[in-house]
Amino acid sequence: MINSIRGFNDILPGETGIWQHIEGEACRVFEVYGFSEIRIPIVEKTGLFSRSIGETTDIVEKEMYTFSDRHGESITMRPEGTASVVRAYIEHKLYAGDPVAKLYYLGPMFRYERPQKGRFRQFYQIGAEVFGVDDPRIDAELLEMLMSFFERLGLEGVKLEINSLGCRECRPQHKESLLNFLREKREGLCEDCRRRLEINPLRTLDCKSRACIEITSGAPSILDSICETCKNHFEKVKESLMLAGVNFHLNPRMVRGLDYYIRTTFEITSAGLGSQNAVAAGGRYDGLARDLGGPDVPGIGFAIGMERLVMVFKEGRAAKQACAKSGLVFMAVLGDRAEKEAVPLIKALRLKGIKVERDYGAKGIKAQIKRADKLGAKFVLILGDDELSSNSITVKNMENGEQEKKPISMIEERLEALMKGKT
Ligand code: HAM
Repeated sequence: MINSIRGFNDILPGETGIWQHIEGEACRVFEVYGFSEIRIPIVEKTGLFSRSIGETTDIVEKEMYTFSDRHGESITMRPEGTASVVRAYIEHKLYAGDPVAKLYYLGPMFRYERPQKGRFRQFYQIGAEVFGVDDPRIDAELLEMLMSFFERLGLEGVKLEINSLGCRECRPQHKESLLNFLREKREGLCEDCRRRLEINPLRTLDCKSRACIEITSGAPSILDSICETCKNHFEKVKESLMLAGVNFHLNPRMVRGLDYYIRTTFEITSAGLGSQNAVAAGGRYDGLARDLGGPDVPGIGFAIGMERLVMVFKEGRAAKQACAKSGLVFMAVLGDRAEKEAVPLIKALRLKGIKVERDYGAKGIKAQIKRADKLGAKFVLILGDDELSSNSITVKNMENGEQEKKPISMIEERLEALMKGKT
């Protein structure tokens, strides 16, 4: 017996209904905000990720699924979607007509992390990216969209945290004061942070080791050293969020695990998730398109962790409704003559969009009704000798047990009315 690989999950039929519901809602909400779907490959050239996410990040250093293909080219299973979307935006010159592009994507990502609750090696993201707008109002609008989506899903207890990481002009100043602070405490830092200290001291603020968290608790805040332009940008983001009625909390310690961010960054957490509590995260990455060989177009986006979202959704108020079984009809067929009538009728009902199940054995009526009940059927259609002699069908309502006989020619119409709750 060969089992699945650690950290790679099956999503079983009982769960997929929830996934489809969430994905459907995401598409509806994002389209209303002017986004269109983009589908990007699962594998890319390794350099795309190392250059964009950053050579000294955990993702690039330790977590990528990287292989040589048959021609010896280094390829990587995407650990995230942003780099690929930026690549596609440049490669297909999506900026040619209008530099503003709003794109969303759904699909699996791969990171070689230690699996635990809410953390997997294959996980799904729903992401969205906006290109061509540096106005802070788009930062707020993107967050408004994300929070509206969560509200539509009936999520409870989610919290939006925001920060500004400054820009390429003012970040070196913060890097310097952080370095001065950390150099004295170098010996107490974990091995990774000591190694990366001089190249990328910001990573220390994102480190999960207890010692590093303790040491960095007194570190200088990035918000104290960002320049006037970044400060104004961030003020405008906050103002616009308030105008849109989106609640947020400031978290000056948040640096994110990817290097491409500048200015606005954010995370949405949920208390119910335990230690892997970020259900979504993102930020602004102006300069990334230019760094990857494209035009100097600003960008901002987010990605939602689907498995974590499903976990939070299941606790919420809208979950029951979304999981409610749609009206199933069961066709009980009794005998060969009935079979001849039943097959085209079942086909016609299914073509109308009515969900119909049947039994394939030559079982009696009792056994078939039992199976219909097990499947959660709302109505059972009975077609036996008695019905055939009068060219009719018996319709049994499984909720109240009532039965009625209707001519076969009227059955489609009658079922549609019954499904809508008409008597
Ligand atoms: P990220 O913070 O690395 O950002 O991932 C976004 C979300 O994906 C996380 O908040 C979490 O919900 C989920 N996630 C990440 N790793 C795992 C894992 N191993 N298992 C389960 N869920 C996970 C990005 O990926 C950026 N591309 C977001 C972005 C888009 N920034 C700008 N645009």
